Amino acid sequence: MGYTLAEKIIAAHLVEGEMKPGAEIGLRIDQTLTQDATGTMAYLELEAMGVDRVKTERSVAYIDHNTLQSGFENADDHRYIRTVAKKYGVWFSRPGNGICHQVHLERFGVPGKTLIGSDSHTPTGGGIGMLAMGAGGLDVAVAMGGGAYHITMPKTVKVNLTGALPPYVSAKDVILKVLSILSVKGGVGRVIEYGGAGVATLSVPQRATITNMGAELGATTSIFPSDETTRAFLRAQGREGDYVPLAPDADAVYERVIDIDLGALEPLVAKPHSPDNVDTAANLAGLKVDQVCIGSCTNSSLADMLTVAAMLKGRTVHPEVSLVIAPGSKQVLTMLAENGALADIVAAGARVLECACGPCIGMGQAPQSGGVSLRTFNRNFEGRSGTADASVYLVSPETAVASAVAGVLTDPRTFGAPVEIKMPEHFLVNDNLIDPPAESGNDVEVLRGPNIKPFPEAKPLPEEIDAPVTIKVGDNITTDHIMPATTKQLPYRSNIPYLSNYCFTRCDEEFPERMRHTGGGILVGGVNYGQGSSREHAALVPLYLGAKAVLVKSFARIHKANLVNAGILPLVFEDEADYDRITLGDRLVLRGLRESAGTGGERVEIENVTAGVRFGARLELSQRERAVLLAGGLLNYTRESGKNA
Ligand code: F3S
Repeated sequence: MGYTLAEKIIAAHLVEGEMKPGAEIGLRIDQTLTQDATGTMAYLELEAMGVDRVKTERSVAYIDHNTLQSGFENADDHRYIRTVAKKYGVWFSRPGNGICHQVHLERFGVPGKTLIGSDSHTPTGGGIGMLAMGAGGLDVAVAMGGGAYHITMPKTVKVNLTGALPPYVSAKDVILKVLSILSVKGGVGRVIEYGGAGVATLSVPQRATITNMGAELGATTSIFPSDETTRAFLRAQGREGDYVPLAPDADAVYERVIDIDLGALEPLVAKPHSPDNVDTAANLAGLKVDQVCIGSCTNSSLADMLTVAAMLKGRTVHPEVSLVIAPGSKQVLTMLAENGALADIVAAGARVLECACGPCIGMGQAPQSGGVSLRTFNRNFEGRSGTADASVYLVSPETAVASAVAGVLTDPRTFGAPVEIKMPEHFLVNDNLIDPPAESGNDVEVLRGPNIKPFPEAKPLPEEIDAPVTIKVGDNITTDHIMPATTKQLPYRSNIPYLSNYCFTRCDEEFPERMRHTGGGILVGGVNYGQGSSREHAALVPLYLGAKAVLVKSFARIHKANLVNAGILPLVFEDEADYDRITLGDRLVLRGLRESAGTGGERVEIENVTAGVRFGARLELSQRERAVLLAGGLLNYTRESGKNA
C-alpha cells in the first residue's frame, strides 16, 4: 500500500511512534516560524529551557501582528524579539516586511520540509508542498531546541480537483466550497491533500490561499503536490535550488475522496459568524456594504493585488464604502509600485495600509457600529473585527472589489469583462528587512522592557481536584472568546497579568473576578472547544487565573495541546448529556488523578457534590501527554527530562 503525500513527509521525519491513524507520533522539525503576538512567549520559553542556539535548519521570527505603536508596549516586544532572535540563531523579519506566511512562502519555504509555526495559518506552506502546521508557542520553542513535535497521526482526505476556474471565480471560492462540505470541524484529525488534474491549473499563491484556510476546517494541515508550477514559483524567487518534486504514490489510500470540478464553482461568501456558513454571492447580491478589507495571509499575494488593481483601474470606490488594502509583503508592495498597479489602487480611492495583518487581527479599521464588512480574510468570528455588533462576510478579492465599487455585495461575474493580469517571471528580491542572526550569540544582550513579564508556571497534576465550575459555555467556543485579541489586549501578549482582566469577558464579564474570588476553578464547554487560533494565551491566561481542569464535549486540536503544555487537565464528557446536569458554581470533585494519568487510565470519576450526582469523563491523552501533565506542563517536563520532550 502506497503513501499519501503527507504520509511520505511524515515517514521521512518520524522520530517516535507508529504511523497508525490516531496514535501519537513525534516528528523532526526542519523549520519554525513565530509572529510577534505569540513569539514573545515562545522566546521567553526558549530562554527558560536553557538552550544555547536553535537546532532547526531555519527559524524565522516575524513582526506582523502588533505593528501599531501607540504606546511603548509593542516597540518593547519588537526589540525583545529582535535581540533574542539574534542571540539564539533566528532570522528576524522586521515590521513592514510583511505577513509571516506570505513572506515565509516567498523567501524560506522548501517543499518536503516540516514547518511548525506559532500561528494557526502556518499550513499556508502546504501550497508549496511543505508539511506545515500551526502549534503552540511552547511546542515551537521545544522544536527550536531540537525536540520533536508531537501530533496524532492524521488520516488523509483527498480533494480531487478537475477542470479550471472560470473568470472571476478564485481560490477563495475553492476553499469556501470545501468548508461548506466539511464544516469547521470536518478536518479535525485529518490532512487535506489536494490532487487531480485541476491542480496544474492553480498557481502557488492560489494553492496557498486554499491551504491557508484549511486551518478553518480544523485540519492538522493541508498540502498540494510540488510540481513544475512550484519550481517556477521558486525560480521566480531566485530559489530554484530549493525545488524538489513531490507527489503521492499512485496506490495511496485515502479515508475519503471529495471531487470538486473547478469549472462548476461560482463566487461564494462565508456569512457571519463562521467561515463554514457559506452562501453564493449571487444569493447575497444587493446587501449594503460599509467597509471592504483586502489582504491578510489568505489573499495578499502579488497575483491577488494585481487582480484588485486591474479591477479598480479607472473606477472609483463607492462613496459610502471604506476600502482598505494591505499587501502581504514588502516584495508585493514594491512590485505593485514599480509596475504602476499601486497608482491604480490609490487613484480609485482605496486606503493602502502597511504590509501586515492589520484589520485581520483587529489592529485598526474596526467597522462602524452595526456595520457590514466584506473581507478577504479567513475568519469572521463575532467581535474579531473590533466592533462587537459588526457583520463580517468572507469573500474573494474579486467579490471584494466588485462590491467596493458598487456599494452593495456584488457577484463579480456581473462586474464586466474579465481582467487579465500578467505575472512577472522574476519577483523583486530584496531581503534588506530580514536580519540574519549573529554568528555567535555570546556577545548579544537580550533587551527587555517593562511590558515583558514572566509567564505563569504550572504545578504538577494533583491527586485530587476539588473546585467550583467557574464558567459554563456552549459549542464552538473560539480562542477569541477565551482570550480576546483586540487592540486593547494585543500589545500585552507578553504581559499575562494584564491580559487576565479580559479572559472570557465576551462570554461572561465576571469570569476573571470570579476566578480570583474562588481561587480558581473548572471550566465547562461544549463541542469543538478552543477552535480558531493557535494562541497559547488561551491556556496560559486561564492557568494564571487558577484553571485546574477544562471539561468539554470535544476539543480543537491545537488548544487541547496548549492546555496539556500549560499543565491544565483536559477532560471530555463520557456522556454528553452530563453537560446539561452541570450548573455554574457547582462543586466538582475529581479523585485519583495522578494514578489515572500515570497508569494509562482512560476514565476519571467526577462527583458533582452540589447536584449529588456522579459521572465519568475521558482522559484522551497519549503516554507523553500524561507525563507532561504529571510534571506540571511541558516546560517542567522538558527541564526534568532534559530531552526537550
Ligand atoms: Fe495575520 Fe490574520 Fe493571518 S492575524 S497571520 S493575517 S489570520
